[in-house]
Amino acid sequence: MSIDKHSDWYKDAVFYELHVKAFYDSTNDGIGDFNGLTEKLDYLKDLGVDCIWLLPFYPSPQKDDGYDIADYYNVNPPYGSVKDFQRFIKAAHKRGLRVIADLVLNHTSDQHSWFQEALLSKKSKKRDYYVWSKTDQRYKDARIIFVDTETSNWSWSQNTQEYYWHRFFSHQPDLNFENPRVQKAMQRVMYFWLDLGLDGFRCDAVPYLFEEEGTNCENLPKTHQFLKDLRKKLDNRYPDKVLLAEANQWPEDVRPYFGDGDEFHMAFHFPLMPRLFMSLIKESSKPITEIMSQTPDIPENCQWGLFLRNHDELTLEMVTDEERDYMYKEYAKEPRMRCNVGIRRRLAPLLDNDRDSIELLNSMLFTLPGSPVIYYGDEIGMGDNIYLGDRNGVRTPMQWSIDRNGGFSRCDYSLLYQPVIADPVYGYQSVNVEAQNRTPSSLLNWMKKMIKTRKKYKAFGRGTLEFQKTNNSKILCYFRKYQEEIILIINNLSKTVQAVEVKLDDYRGFRLIELTAENDLPLVEDKPYFFTLPPRGYYWFKLVPVTEEAYETLQEMQTEAEHETEKVTN
Ligand code: GLC
Repeated sequence: MSIDKHSDWYKDAVFYELHVKAFYDSTNDGIGDFNGLTEKLDYLKDLGVDCIWLLPFYPSPQKDDGYDIADYYNVNPPYGSVKDFQRFIKAAHKRGLRVIADLVLNHTSDQHSWFQEALLSKKSKKRDYYVWSKTDQRYKDARIIFVDTETSNWSWSQNTQEYYWHRFFSHQPDLNFENPRVQKAMQRVMYFWLDLGLDGFRCDAVPYLFEEEGTNCENLPKTHQFLKDLRKKLDNRYPDKVLLAEANQWPEDVRPYFGDGDEFHMAFHFPLMPRLFMSLIKESSKPITEIMSQTPDIPENCQWGLFLRNHDELTLEMVTDEERDYMYKEYAKEPRMRCNVGIRRRLAPLLDNDRDSIELLNSMLFTLPGSPVIYYGDEIGMGDNIYLGDRNGVRTPMQWSIDRNGGFSRCDYSLLYQPVIADPVYGYQSVNVEAQNRTPSSLLNWMKKMIKTRKKYKAFGRGTLEFQKTNNSKILCYFRKYQEEIILIINNLSKTVQAVEVKLDDYRGFRLIELTAENDLPLVEDKPYFFTLPPRGYYWFKLVPVTEEAYETLQEMQTEAEHETEKVTN
């Protein structure tokens, strides 16, 4: 098997985000590597995902887990070599898996040779690669993103007696995109990795590329211009690739990143994510229906990236103050659980390890419009460690088995890049791939089943979304429709059993078929369809028309069956 070439593959794909260092250590030095990841490709194939998203794996001082890049053209030595990377890509493609990686355009590490050179003197050739100022009073309207660590977007360079600009950590100076040489340099980085076989990029922090006085320095027209040009260059040379934007913005501000289908292929839907969690606390469909109704249509060749958790904090920038308080109160009861404007916890602990809630959120992840992105370890319900600094608590080693270090590495425990989770609830002794593979009812096997089911229907990746009004606001009910496919999804957001009547007037004479087991439910008739859902329950159905004749026969059979039951109960 190998990659099936079709240019909008990303619309039907399931993505899987992972860190090379965290996945599998083949050298037993305590740090995961490309060869280790290659060994685990069959696991990912078996899970059913289509595309792996690699977090930054380039040489870096690792002060921001690799998002502080010191060399764009290499692999961080503990993770292996460029050759290992190529071997990994080949092995992935052989299995029909695609691979994208982070492209960090906005900034470099202060250890990058460009910055080191720029620091030497104001006359340095690389000086203009970064943004300098005599005062720290410029661009005052730009917000600070890492509020836990930074107090200004400017830092002082002692050597050259000027400030340099940075939207993230002070050790991550922003590149100056006004400089055409910077633009070219970053395009070359893109070509380099695509030539080695990469299938695209998750483009980091794209709203911040340019600065302009009197603005908040986000989403500027010049930024879009550069990105459109980048896309053009990609399309000219490489068909079949994907660019996915990290633009943590409101839907109307994300929309321009799709352009007319000529900027990004995909962008994450940041505002939807916290609202999925909100809907569980409030036991209400409103947070979701509201944000989806504010979500503009996107061009035909574009797609949303949906996610529940990722390697960062669960960001609460795209919610109201009231909603943020609500989220903190429910999901970050200890101050340690907070980080910047968000919550640094994994999916399972956020949901108190409640299997029903975990399934429900995944049910919505898999069925709302977009391509789902699963964060490594969440498919087995891994826990976190809030005692590790920054966002490291959600970046612990993957838990493969009950062996030493969770089967991640055979090194001495103290050598691990970070301790493996070992508490009684989420520790590798109880939460690991091997055990879950063996248990038919495990979360892992459930995930496999749902991914497989999702992949049978194009409507999930390509269909329209129509919310269906019901008589119960705790129920989120919607149709996904594409060509002949009519899918009906019903989610119970409540902690208690709920009954709901769904009006299916337009589908009289249709059969309802539950998607995972493919079993039939009674025909749709003139009266509303009545469902009872268990706490945090969900159903996925397809609606299939039956011919007039078949409809009558089915109805007769149904009536007969009803009589039979009556006889038995009498
Ligand atoms: C993105 C990454 C985050 C990183 C930041 C700065 O938001 O997701 O992990 O710290 O960019 O590069």
